[in-house]
Amino acid sequence: MDFITLFFLFSAFFSASAQQIQSNVSRGSSLTPTANSTWLSHSGLYAFGFYKQGNGYAVGIFIAGIPEKTVVWTANRDGLPVPKNTTLLFASDGRLVLQMGQEQLAVVADSSGSASASMLNSGNFVIYNSKKVIIWQSFDYPTDTFLPSQRLLAGHEMFSSISETDHSTGIFRLKMQNDGNLVQYPVDTPDTAPYAYYASGTNGLGDNVTLNFAADGYLYLLNATGFNIKNLTAGGHPTEETIYLMRLDVDGIFRLYSQNLKQKGNWSIEWSSSLDKCDPKGLCGLNSFCASFDQEPDCLCIPGFEKVHPGNRTAGCERSFPEEGCNNKNGDIKYSFEEVSNTIWEDVSYSVLSVPSKESCEQACLEDCNCEAALFKDRTCSKQRLPLRYGRRTQTNPNIAFIKVSISTPTTPNGNMPKENKKEFREDILIICASFVAFGCMMLVVSGFVFYKNHFRYRKLSYDGNVELSHEFAPRSFTYSELEQVTGGFTEEVGRGSFGAVFKGAMSIGEKVVAVKRLEKVLAEGEREFQTEMKVIGRTHHKNLVRLLGYCHDGIHRLLVYEYMSNGSLADVLFTPEKQPCWDERMGIARNVAKGILYLHEECDEQIIHCDIKPHNILMDEFGCAKISDFGLAKLLKQDQTKTFTGIRGTRGYVAPEWHRKLPITVKADVYSYGIVLLEIICCRKNVDWNLPEKEAILEEWAYHCFETGDITKLLGDEEVDKKQVERMVRLAIWCIQDEPSLRPSMKKVLLMLEGTVDIPIPPSPASFLSAI
Ligand SMILES: *[C@@H]1O[C@H](CO)[C@@H](O)[C@H](O)[C@H]1NC(C)=O
Ligand SMILES: *[C@@H]1O[C@H](CO)[C@@H](O)[C@H](O)[C@H]1NC(C)=O
Ligand SMILES: *[C@@H]1O[C@H](CO)[C@@H](O)[C@H](O)[C@H]1NC(C)=O
Ligand SMILES: *[C@@H]1O[C@H](CO)[C@@H](O)[C@H](O)[C@H]1NC(C)=O
Ligand SMILES: *[C@@H]1O[C@H](CO)[C@@H](O)[C@H](O)[C@H]1NC(C)=O
Ligand SMILES: *[C@@H]1O[C@H](CO)[C@@H](O)[C@H](O)[C@H]1NC(C)=O
Ligand SMILES: *[C@@H]1O[C@H](CO)[C@@H](O)[C@H](O)[C@H]1NC(C)=O
Ligand SMILES: *[C@@H]1O[C@H](CO)[C@@H](O)[C@H](O)[C@H]1NC(C)=O
Repeated sequence: MDFITLFFLFSAFFSASAQQIQSNVSRGSSLTPTANSTWLSHSGLYAFGFYKQGNGYAVGIFIAGIPEKTVVWTANRDGLPVPKNTTLLFASDGRLVLQMGQEQLAVVADSSGSASASMLNSGNFVIYNSKKVIIWQSFDYPTDTFLPSQRLLAGHEMFSSISETDHSTGIFRLKMQNDGNLVQYPVDTPDTAPYAYYASGTNGLGDNVTLNFAADGYLYLLNATGFNIKNLTAGGHPTEETIYLMRLDVDGIFRLYSQNLKQKGNWSIEWSSSLDKCDPKGLCGLNSFCASFDQEPDCLCIPGFEKVHPGNRTAGCERSFPEEGCNNKNGDIKYSFEEVSNTIWEDVSYSVLSVPSKESCEQACLEDCNCEAALFKDRTCSKQRLPLRYGRRTQTNPNIAFIKVSISTPTTPNGNMPKENKKEFREDILIICASFVAFGCMMLVVSGFVFYKNHFRYRKLSYDGNVELSHEFAPRSFTYSELEQVTGGFTEEVGRGSFGAVFKGAMSIGEKVVAVKRLEKVLAEGEREFQTEMKVIGRTHHKNLVRLLGYCHDGIHRLLVYEYMSNGSLADVLFTPEKQPCWDERMGIARNVAKGILYLHEECDEQIIHCDIKPHNILMDEFGCAKISDFGLAKLLKQDQTKTFTGIRGTRGYVAPEWHRKLPITVKADVYSYGIVLLEIICCRKNVDWNLPEKEAILEEWAYHCFETGDITKLLGDEEVDKKQVERMVRLAIWCIQDEPSLRPSMKKVLLMLEGTVDIPIPPSPASFLSAI
């Protein structure tokens, strides 16, 4: 591209502005949101620096030389906007940091030892060492936008933004896979075909395939030897006065845009990865499906459901009326079916039948208490549990989905009213709701009786060894031989926990990889307790909890089937020197774990005290997101198991002191364990390590000693971290490990403190309360 021309073109735009072209930046330079807010590229087209975001500012790169300033890169995109009095400093140690006064808010580029930086005409912000070698560049950390001359390397991905104005990580991703395929998925899904909604189809054409972008709008894939294996766009567009960019848009589609600089126009779309805006999976939330009207996608609820948050389509839909029991064995049918035709869904069927007609599919689902919906196509009937995901209407596919609805549930066609009727419909709902409140009260009385009756029937069935599961039960039940097949005869042991060995396995359907845990020390009898616990665990859904997919209760065998976590446990990550994450990643893990525990304590249907929070029970998924496992299992342990937590020479490991004092166990016991884990996360070491000098061996004591003597940096070794941040975290950990449970903060408070929303007062010595008595 002819940047000289551009420069002349744009000098006009900036003659009135306070910004200066200063493409070569030396150490010690700084920017503020109000004066000298950016460093411009030589052409004047691209700017690096502050731009307005929400009620503050963000740091990034934007195209300054056009009327509609377009952000193409954001530093710390998920961080909060910063206030007016922030400074972006190219510090004397070579790093690029955000500061407020003397306090460091964030590291924009961890480029210690660098000498200079430059906003290049390509839109790449680069940082050089003293030999003019690039040691950091924004092109290596793409956000949602891809610029000419940028490359997306194998194993790397881009993420969409939340909205046009908020550039935080959104819900779609585009990944250049190691197998050579360029694929789009929703976030937080495995890289497997069932989740993909776009693929370049170049898998198997070699390792190290890259996505490349030429200045004339040409997007193409090269294999490792530089051979062109696929053209996404035609290229060959004019380059004079026209600029291009590719963006993974908020709606999940990636598009090539162009803009003619002379005409001062807007961006126009040159190419789209898809023309159907319903293609991106996850655009509509759970229990809703995407349908396009005049090219614009809309999310409709399945029958008997209504939107959780009207106006937020990703929030999905929930049952508009209470569920009823499933007693069809008695012959009293409480359900009917609503049909949703021409839709496709994620197939997570727990049972697939071959049936002659759609009526027999309906009947099969009706007779099965576990069945909440059925998908019928070509004489196959797939029984499913809710929620239904990734739904969309298609013209080409004669699929029919049946949704089981209560006979008393008033439904509307497709679960949604046309927009004009919405107001009237709301009033209807009010009246219906009022009558339902009255009805609900009556049901409460009636259900008392029903429960009493069921209670007895349950017992009887248990005697026959023929336990019926309740219908809201989400995880699927397996027989022992099925799990034997899934794990290939329990051959690949991937771990061993306090409850028994864990094996890797693969489901035949969709080849989903799972972890199968064989419980060893659980109560021999107590089938009902087992079922009840499974039900409680199965109802928990949170991104920081490992998902229970199924269980087996077959003869003497008790097994649990979980989603497989590819990156091992937090213990592996923290205590293996090569794997240790940096400070910011570790704080992310600490927040993830806190969110998971908070959910168990306060947000799920039935409060769950984990009782065994430790790094071995915290697993890492492929994206480095921490998830808690083994929750809800404490109640299954034999009585004596809970007493086997023994301390080593005065330490308690992760176990709160009240365990030893035979005091009642509350959620605060988990807070204690979290405090110990937090110290381990801060220091990257085990809580007890006798290889260290004696006074350092017990982490909780050593940490308090360092805190008391104001020598907190000793805890981190060589790692360079802002001392204030470390001190905040150590203070929080000490609050969590107070001997007296009531002094420990709740998990909600812990999370607020972690996020910096709440001040952390100076904690007392963990044992002070008791010694004072
Ligand atoms: C910036 O540095 C480059 C490479 O050292 C040099 O060629 C160029 O003249 C410098 N530009 C300015 C404006 O100093
Ligand atoms: C902006 O930076 C230039 C040099 O880069 C300096 O001369 C000028 O004083 C700065 N302006 C403010 C308001 O800091
Ligand atoms: C910066 O502004 C924030 C509020 O916007 C204030 O709380 C903070 O104390 C200020 N910091 C400095 C160093 O002036
Ligand atoms: C790249 O593609 C060419 C042509 O298909 C092939 O000859 C070459 O081996 C490929 N390189 C790699 C590394 O796969
Ligand atoms: C792909 O890149 C990795 C890392 O750069 C390298 O180890 C590997 O040999 C490359 N593979 C091919 C086929 O070039
Ligand atoms: C892609 O387009 C270029 C010309 O623009 C052509 O030379 C090349 O063969 C094409 N590659 C494929 C895989 O079609
Ligand atoms: C650019 O877009 C804005 C808002 O979408 C519109 O008001 C304006 O007319 C457009 N300008 C041109 C030149 O198309
Ligand atoms: C919409 O709902 C999703 C899922 O519940 C939530 O993550 C997101 O923050 C919501 N968006 C808005 C704008 O409220």
